[in-house]
Amino acid sequence: MEQQAAEKPEYGNWVSRRLIYMPAAVSLIIMGFAVIIPFLFIIAALFLFVSLYFAYARHLFSPRGGKLQARVRGLALSAVDWTGKGQILDIGCGSGALTIDIAKKCREARVIGIDYWGKQWGYSKRVCEKNAEIEGVADRVTFQKADAAALPFDDGSMDVVVSNLVFHEVGGVKDKRELIREALRVVKKGGAFVFQDLFLWKQIYGEPDELVEKVRSWGGKEVKFVNTGKSDFIPKVAKLPFMIGAIGMIIGKK
Ligand SMILES: C[S@@+](CC[C@H](N)C(=O)[O-])C[C@H]1O[C@@H](n2cnc3c(N)ncnc32)[C@H](O)[C@@H]1O
Repeated sequence: MEQQAAEKPEYGNWVSRRLIYMPAAVSLIIMGFAVIIPFLFIIAALFLFVSLYFAYARHLFSPRGGKLQARVRGLALSAVDWTGKGQILDIGCGSGALTIDIAKKCREARVIGIDYWGKQWGYSKRVCEKNAEIEGVADRVTFQKADAAALPFDDGSMDVVVSNLVFHEVGGVKDKRELIREALRVVKKGGAFVFQDLFLWKQIYGEPDELVEKVRSWGGKEVKFVNTGKSDFIPKVAKLPFMIGAIGMIIGKK
């Protein structure tokens, strides 16, 4: 009898298909006009190059390709050092991948994943819950729609707070550092935090040293900045600042 293949979780890809299809479509349109104005072939070729770049990047990030997405998440996961019970919050959990990995690592803790699940990513609460079920951690994980800019949790209510590649994405917040402050608000005294984002993108976050000082001024202790963008497994083509070349991690206690 044929056996049914076990269902696999769906964690998506940070490089959306739109980034491949849109420049490809623009390239095709321009190529049509290039029959009349040959110079336009150069512009069409540029758009095609952009499309091919993102197609390759999507392959690099995918679980069947370079597994870059899982490995970058792994950097944040390895910095989560919690053995007890209590509550862990993952801000901007996306498809729930890091939330679920944390639940597997911290076997006694309850883990909450929040996200606003906008249209851009194609993630949803339903996908997260299904992934948690498939991975066998649904009994200790909950997902909730919420905004990273105004977390619906009391001050000091979380033992650990993590966030991976989210803060720079949050719209409507001029100073993205305020999102770190909001995340720190819900960390318990004695609790820990692990934030990974494009912290080396100076236009967004300023100098890393000054950022660390800010985090200290908001109650962070033993605050460390780690330049995770330097990790050996990240290929040069993915090190462009708008990809993951500018990633860094801020870890500490409160
Ligand atoms: C690059 S994805 C990272 C997802 C996940 N942390 C991971 O490691 O796979 C960015 C995520 O930020 C979420 N996001 C953006 N703005 C948000 C907001 N204001 N509140 C909560 N989540 C937000 C998006 O929905 C998306 O899931």
